[in-house]
Parts: sequence; structure tokens; C-alpha cells
Amino acid sequence: MWNREGLKEFIKQKMADYLFVIVSNREPYVHTFQGEEIKCGMPASGVTMALDPVMQSCGGIWIAHGSGDADKEVVDAHNHIQVPPEESRYTLRRVWLTKEEEAGYYYGFSNEALWPLCHVVYTRPTFKSADWETYKKVNELFSRTVLEEIGDKKAFVFIQDYHFALLSRLIREKNPNCILSQFWHIPWPNPEAFRICPWKEEILHGLLGNDLLGFHIRYHCMNFLETVDRMIEARTDYEKFEIIKGGKSTRVRPFPISIDFDEASSRGQSQEVEIEMRRLRKTLGLGGQIVGLGVDRIDYTKGIPERFRAIDLFFEKYPQYKGKVKFIQAGPLSRIHIQQYKDLNEELTRLMVEINFKYERGRWKPIQFHRSNFGKKELMALYRLADFCVVSSLHDGMNLVAKEYVASRADNTGVLILSQFTGAARELESALLVNPYDVDGLAENIRLAIEMTEGEKQKRMSKMREVVQKNNIYRWTGKVLSELLRFEFPEG
Ligand code: F6P
Repeated sequence: MWNREGLKEFIKQKMADYLFVIVSNREPYVHTFQGEEIKCGMPASGVTMALDPVMQSCGGIWIAHGSGDADKEVVDAHNHIQVPPEESRYTLRRVWLTKEEEAGYYYGFSNEALWPLCHVVYTRPTFKSADWETYKKVNELFSRTVLEEIGDKKAFVFIQDYHFALLSRLIREKNPNCILSQFWHIPWPNPEAFRICPWKEEILHGLLGNDLLGFHIRYHCMNFLETVDRMIEARTDYEKFEIIKGGKSTRVRPFPISIDFDEASSRGQSQEVEIEMRRLRKTLGLGGQIVGLGVDRIDYTKGIPERFRAIDLFFEKYPQYKGKVKFIQAGPLSRIHIQQYKDLNEELTRLMVEINFKYERGRWKPIQFHRSNFGKKELMALYRLADFCVVSSLHDGMNLVAKEYVASRADNTGVLILSQFTGAARELESALLVNPYDVDGLAENIRLAIEMTEGEKQKRMSKMREVVQKNNIYRWTGKVLSELLRFEFPEG
């Protein structure tokens, strides 16, 4: 069983001579001004949530966009800051972007083109050549930063996500002596969906700069192999899951990402969480209620309108639950400069107001919507208060909320309703698996969750806990690193 200590030992024994570098767009710690004071927080991001405990174990350098308005105030002359703030465990190197760069690279190409292209949820991608140019420019900027940090050290570089499709190739061109890997945290669609991208060849060529390329599930690996096979000149080996282009090979592997199960499970039982639960029960008016929960960044891939419609249908079909069941939707606003996200926000407000008006009785309303980034303690308290949790993503690489909810239920209570279109559904087979497009089915599963016997809940939850405990984030990292250690540094 992999755990924090085991991973530390593994790294000490096998990686002590190498520098470990992570690159991501989102930084793990953000400094912001609150009045005159500077506060440090963690963003709502699956990537940073999963990788921060890993970096805390291995040490090294994490390179990311410095997006907080107080970020510049706290770095040293090399744009470095030691994190976490309470105990230096690794170095965060911040990269500064102009507003124009952020608009073209992050909002534009990453989130208006690649995000909808890879998530098959019928939101049309927008391809603008100006955004593509900025995306290339920012990938170049990050490549210069990586090269500067590595110098002539032997380094493992671990790139995160779709913001950096070109990065490994750019690093390799200048420094062939490092081992390059990348994890694509979102789905990879089938070739039919991917082929509409005007810069598909460049993207594939860029990604094949990696020695190792990871996806959450085998299905996404297969999609990637088939995409390469159909779109560029390369040899695709379906037996070995390997692509050879220009004499250089890239291994493609599934690594289902996870969470720090033990930490989440024990935090869930802590006294501070118990206190927080009492506070929330009171402030949210949850006393005597059956509580349903949804936790998501407000994103159109998460199936939140479908969830609200299912709640509407549930009360329509089962009016005996009026006044007895409350649904809490929690999570921060996201990517608000993009039109589809603005539209989604308006739609959700409209839906919530309509549904609440339809069923409210005195002070009781069926849906409470909290658009904010909850801290770890509050989030854990919400998980513990929830009799059932709904993850209804229309398409999702993994979905760590599902795993966090499971980790929080040390007493094996609670029911997880989980979209079959998440990576997590491959592992959490004992959840109530749903098709979020089928609103009737979703409503019926809400009823099933509420009416499930305690014995059945215990049986399902304990099975899921076993899976997440075993396939935890340390196992994920251990597997990625073990695979990386099989590569030899070019100079011997
Ligand atoms: O995997 C997708 C991802 O990068 C996750 O880390 C996270 O849930 C989300 O997207 C973060 O979005 P953003 O960094 O754009 O706020």
C-alpha cells in the first residue's frame, strides 16, 4: 500500500540525485490582498489539490502562473517563494503573464478551444488564430523558465494538462538531457471529435516531445493513439502503447489520479471538522433535514443544470419529501470572462429561483447555492453533513470530489450518485451510477439514495473506500515516477 512515508522513502532512495520539476498553469498557493493584508489560499483545482501533497513529499520546484494580485509582493528576486507558507517544503516559481497573454492563452486557446474540444458535452470550441499565437508564445515563455531552473542538472520534468501541449517539445529542442513527462488531466476525445482542430498536427507533434504521456483511463490512451495514427506520420504500437516519431518514442499510459485518502479520512474525523459541522448545520439550517450535496467549480461540463432539473422532478414526483430534503450546491465561479460560463451562471440562478419558488414552504427552500471557494475544513464538514452527494458531470477526466466524499465517510454512511461519464466511475463501481442526460433517471437515483437501507449504504461505501484507500495519490505518483525511472538520461 502506497502512503506518504513510502513515497518519501522511494524518492529518497531513487531520485535523490535528480531535480524534480512540476509545471502547471494554476499555482498551488495564491497570495491575494484582503484590504491591507496579504492572505495565502489554495485554489479550487483538482490538479493542485492532488499534486501539492506529492510535492510536499518530494521537494523540488513547481513552476506556475502567478495569478494572485499580491503574488509579486511575496516572491524573492528569482520569483521564488517557499511553500506551504507554514512550513517550507518546496519552491514555487511564479511566471508573470500580461492581461493579453492570459486572455489569449488561458481564456482563449486553453479554455475556449481545447477544453470544449476534449470534453464532449456539445459546447462548440472556438478556434481563433490570435489565441493560438498567444498560446504558442506562453508555452515558449514557460519553456525558457523551465530551462533556466534546470540549468545543467539532471531533471525530471512533469508537465500538467492542456495548457502546455507544446511545452515538452520546446524544452527538448534546447535541452535533450532531461526526462519529460506530461499528464493530461482532461479527457482525450476520439479522432472524430479531435480532427476539427485547425492546429491538430502541431498539438500532437508537441505532445510527442514527452517521454511519457499519461491519461486517467485506458480509453483516453486509446483515443490518443488512434488520433495520432490517423492524423500524423508516426508509428503507433498498440501492443506496447507507444508512439515512435522521428526515431523518438513516447510511452502512453493510464494513471487514474486520486487524493490523499488517509489525510482526508482522518481530517474528516477531526474535532475542528466536528465543530465546523455544528456551525454549518446551524447557519445553513440543516437540522433534521436529509442533506444532498454537489461540489463543483461552476463549469458547463459538470452537469449542474441537469442536477437542478432532477431535483425539481424529484419533488414533483415525491412531494412527501417537501420540507425534508435540502440540496446544497457549493463551489466557486470559474472562467467568468468566457461567455458560456456567464450564460451558465445565469441559467443556474434562474433555475434555482424557479425551483425554490415552486416548492418553498416558510423558511424551507429545496436548493441552497453557495458560489464560493470553500476551505478544506468547511468542505470536509459539508461532505460529512451530506447524506448523499451528486457528481453529475457530462464528461470528466476523473473527478476528485467523488473520491473526497468517499474518503470523508469513515463510518461508511452516505451515498454517492456518480455520472458514468467520469473517469472515477471506472473505479467507484459501487456508487449509484447515472447518465446525467437522463433527468428522470437522475431524479429516481436521488430517491434511491434517500431510501437506501443502512446496510446497503455501508456495503457500497466500504467497497468504495477500499478502492480509494488503495489507489491513493501516493500510488499514482509512485506509478508515474517508477515509469519515469525506467528511462535513462541521454548522457548515460
Ligand atoms: O483537470 C482540469 C483542471 O485543470 C483541474 O485541475 C481543475 O479542476 C480545473 O481544470 C481547474 O481549472 P482552472 O485552473 O482553469 O481554474
